[in-house]
Amino acid sequence: MLQATAFLFLFSLALVAPSLSAKKCVLTGHWINDLGSNMTILAVNGRGDFSGSYHTAVTATTNEIQVSPLQGSQHRSNQKSQPTFGFTVNWSFSDSVTVFTGQCFVDKEGKETLKTMWLLRSRVDNINDDWKATRVGINVFTRLQSQKE
Ligand code: BTN
Repeated sequence: MLQATAFLFLFSLALVAPSLSAKKCVLTGHWINDLGSNMTILAVNGRGDFSGSYHTAVTATTNEIQVSPLQGSQHRSNQKSQPTFGFTVNWSFSDSVTVFTGQCFVDKEGKETLKTMWLLRSRVDNINDDWKATRVGINVFTRLQSQKE
């Protein structure tokens, strides 16, 4: 009887333990990157689609920075704890578009990090200037903690 109880206890522990340790990285929320840019991602729907807004801290132009819309997609295997994703920012204050792609990582303490790469396409007047129209880089985003936390 004691052996059966011990077996059942260990068995249930084995079932429950992985779900306790597998923390999930969630895209929805407020993020800040290494340049000081702020981003808000709204709810991710059942198809993995999401929208949001981006307030860049820097610009390649001389224009006044404005908050700009973003549209993105999380990979369909969204039950995975560290999903891949991509999003596009259609800049409101310039003729440029930036595409980001990356992965959402979560550590043992539950701290989430978005590791991304981006391509920024600027508009040029002449096809001869095409060669200099695309910049590339990386950005690392961490979650902005809300006041309540
Ligand atoms: C522009 O200058 O035409 C639009 C703003 C571009 C901002 C870029 S996008 C990649 C990098 N990461 C940021 O947070 N801001 C810059």
